[in-house]
Amino acid sequence: MAKTKSIHGEWSSRFAYILAATGSAVGLGNIWKFPYITGENGGGAFVLVYLGCVLAIGIPIMIAETLMGRRGRQSPINTLRDLSAEAGVSPHWQYLGWMGVVAGVLILSYYSVIAGWAIAYVFKAFFGGFSADAAIVKSSFDNLVASPGQLIFWHSVFMVATISVVMRGVKGGLEKAVLLLMPALLALLFLLVAYAMTTGEYYFQGLSFLFSPDFSEIDSDAVLTAMGHAFFTLGLGMGAIMVYGSYMPKGISIVKTSLYIAGADTIVALLAGIAIFPLVFANGLEPGSGPGLIFQTLPIAFGNMTGGWLFGVLFFVLLVFAALTSSISLVEPIVAWLVENKGVSRAKASVISGGAIWALGVSVALSFNSWSDVKIFDKTIFNFLDYLTANLMLPIGGFCIAVFAGWLMHQKDVRNELNLPDQQYEIWKFLVSYIAPAAVFIVFLHVLGLF
Ligand code: TRP
Repeated sequence: MAKTKSIHGEWSSRFAYILAATGSAVGLGNIWKFPYITGENGGGAFVLVYLGCVLAIGIPIMIAETLMGRRGRQSPINTLRDLSAEAGVSPHWQYLGWMGVVAGVLILSYYSVIAGWAIAYVFKAFFGGFSADAAIVKSSFDNLVASPGQLIFWHSVFMVATISVVMRGVKGGLEKAVLLLMPALLALLFLLVAYAMTTGEYYFQGLSFLFSPDFSEIDSDAVLTAMGHAFFTLGLGMGAIMVYGSYMPKGISIVKTSLYIAGADTIVALLAGIAIFPLVFANGLEPGSGPGLIFQTLPIAFGNMTGGWLFGVLFFVLLVFAALTSSISLVEPIVAWLVENKGVSRAKASVISGGAIWALGVSVALSFNSWSDVKIFDKTIFNFLDYLTANLMLPIGGFCIAVFAGWLMHQKDVRNELNLPDQQYEIWKFLVSYIAPAAVFIVFLHVLGLF
């Protein structure tokens, strides 16, 4: 019953799909967010919980979300409507698609502000703003964040860039850009790790912070953050990978590609952590200093290196591109829906959604300065949106996706999409039907203090 071809076109090959989906997964989540939340949550134990969540919850749900997309061949909202008809369940499941659209809009509104910081750092690096002195680096960051005008300006630049790519369709130049930029980003991360090694004892202190778990450091909220981050970093739970799956030709192995993507994503995050924590300790900084962590540490490394300004420019350019290939996947569900249901052109759909996200993003930019006193549930607008989306909406979305693929879809349809040997199918089926939903459920009960 589901369509076999997407009206939006298809990826040109398996490799093209892997590149695009890796582009969606690897982004600020790996390089900006992973280190700072690891620092805030005490290190090793948090990292271990995060890795466990990627394996036991993230990968099985990634497979589920992708297969639903490929079977439905449309925007997540319409895919869920058709798949629920196919499975003979309530059409209300399409509200899961709606929740995803809302989550994507909310995430991008703050994602774009942080990506704006990274653009500002390209220029800082170029004009010699990086220094070997940690105090200078910190005050330079504080000045940026204190300026509403600068934050709104750079956020606007990033949103315009996102919209102009999305307008042209997610295929186009994206595949080629990712092919070139991902390896380059990886190379620069290795350079930063090599620099971190020169800090001697601090290098080992950084490694031990990241990899020797002390479970007394984490509480139920830290576990929730680790689990939420597994969704965030893989780009799961809101329909992004579902939309990408809907452009995936039949015959490509969903399981293999998911494993590659999750593997690449995890490696980038761990490298970022290994590069950053030695610098934190070597310069007497606080691991838990929050969202500014990479902006207060990496410039010190570049400030110390010969030719550091050039590597600094390159690094932040690549970070902005990594953010761009992620932000595209955050708007794609709403754009695809507008095109399918409202009959508007892709260009118009991109501008409408981008404009709304931009406006919301302005309030996020202000929440770092003029509006820092505005609190929602005791959190700044930035912290509130981050908590609401990464810790609540994505795990809830992921839970529903697991239930839908594991319990509601006809198993012959699922088997047909996955095309796996029996034993492997059973493993996935067990993880997606029992382990993943139960884990999300238990973590929520814990946070609510009910278990
Ligand atoms: N995964 C990206 C990152 O780590 C962000 C992202 C892209 C995302 N698409 C998503 C997060 C969908 C949640 C849902 O930077």
